[in-house]
Amino acid sequence: MRKPILIANWKMNGSLHANQALLVRMLAKLRPFRKTIDMVICPPFPYLFQVRDLLGYTGLSLGSQNASSAVSGAHTGEVSATMLQEMGCRYVLVGHSERRSLYQESNANVAARHKQVLATDMTPVLCVGETLEEREQGQTMTVIERQLQAVIDASGLEGLSSSIIAYEPVWAIGTGKTATPEQVYEIHRAIREFLDTRQAGTGQSVSVVYGGSVKSGNAAELFQSPEVDGGLIGGASLQADEFALITAALADTVAEAGSLCGMLD
Ligand code: PGA
Repeated sequence: MRKPILIANWKMNGSLHANQALLVRMLAKLRPFRKTIDMVICPPFPYLFQVRDLLGYTGLSLGSQNASSAVSGAHTGEVSATMLQEMGCRYVLVGHSERRSLYQESNANVAARHKQVLATDMTPVLCVGETLEEREQGQTMTVIERQLQAVIDASGLEGLSSSIIAYEPVWAIGTGKTATPEQVYEIHRAIREFLDTRQAGTGQSVSVVYGGSVKSGNAAELFQSPEVDGGLIGGASLQADEFALITAALADTVAEAGSLCGMLD
């Protein structure tokens, strides 16, 4: 069974002081959800050490916002997957749309980074999604399938299915615009169907989470579909209360789904 997961992407935000204050408040509020939901904090590289220590034995995991496509050597400014693993990371975001658009990470480059993460025992979180223009041209699934296929080409279907897939429509990231629950459902289903065309049954085995302006006010409706296994949260993960409310919303949908299953048994 797929365990629900929430991943906090702090992007390039924080300071030693602010991180400590945020986490102390957040950890207290998240305690009741630790058993039902996997929670991951992805701070900027310089704070990995600090956040690892603060997370301690709380059950929350440490994640990185990216990893190099190279193993080691002359790659100034890059951080390798093995270094991240040594720092205690368990998850690594790859192919975030800000990396793809602002830093020209192509599908092939993202797939190479993903492969490096796979070579460790960390879990890659592969971000996929379309721009507004691509959506308006009816290209959404063509774009996403290309992003997924690049990873299959580099690491096989098994490589892709050992990942978490984050559906993040580019037009919804940091914009305050959120995809409707119907749009999210439709794309999550289509991603699972794509995986099933490669090998039947794969679609249901992979966790697919949604990201893009998730906040406490829309979390419940976005998470209500059984196709949605959780979220990748940017802006709202910088506020302890907001993140806790989003977590509570996910926990509620999990509990509801559980009691529904019980009724059907
Ligand atoms: P947002 O960011 O929640 O601020 O839209 C999501 C993301 O970038 O992963």
